[in-house]
Amino acid sequence: MSVIKTVIKTTNRGGRPRKHPDRRAAWAAASRAYRKRERAARTKRKAYHSGGECEWYTPASVYQPILERLSMTEFDLDPCSPWLDGPIPAKTRFTPADNGLLQPWQGVVWCNPPYGRTMAAWCDKAVQEAREGVRVIILAHARTDTKWFHGLMEAGGRPEFIKGRVAFVRPDGTSESAPFPSVLIWLGF
Ligand SMILES: C[S@@+](CC[C@H](N)C(=O)[O-])C[C@H]1O[C@@H](n2cnc3c(N)ncnc32)[C@H](O)[C@@H]1O
Repeated sequence: MSVIKTVIKTTNRGGRPRKHPDRRAAWAAASRAYRKRERAARTKRKAYHSGGECEWYTPASVYQPILERLSMTEFDLDPCSPWLDGPIPAKTRFTPADNGLLQPWQGVVWCNPPYGRTMAAWCDKAVQEAREGVRVIILAHARTDTKWFHGLMEAGGRPEFIKGRVAFVRPDGTSESAPFPSVLIWLGF
């Protein structure tokens, strides 16, 4: 009897094996794989957004077309740069040692700030500088429900949503696709 039951369970009417002989096991495996993918994505998002891990650099495929649109070969300032000769072509760079939040900005500014707890402070600084005539292009994660995003919109920022995911560059030169959508916000233009 038990042999007959097994045959009925694992074969179709024509005697051909089912794609998933045990649907429940297949569903459990798919759900395990989904949870694993979600955990990995959560860890990655946490790494981007935690205050301590912000060494993700803009690929040339994002900033180069902007320089071309502006007919420039370099920005006037990158106020959040890992080093003095950092990855973004800019006449002046501020590093964490300078604290770009406390320095005066000028000209056309490329701003891809740390996406952690200081995000709102960088956006407030950009708004303040734009009021003084500085032009800022902010590369941010597209968190359209946040106070900082609304603050930028209220200050006249023009959003350009990026199609696809940006592959940010790590300090060792490898790149990794962001686990979130990105937006460029043009402020003061
Ligand atoms: C997301 S990365 C972007 C780097 C670069 N601007 C780019 O677009 O590729 C943010 C950078 O800001 C730097 N940073 C963090 N706090 C800073 C501060 N207070 N002043 C200047 N730079 C800072 C970090 O070291 C990090 O390299």
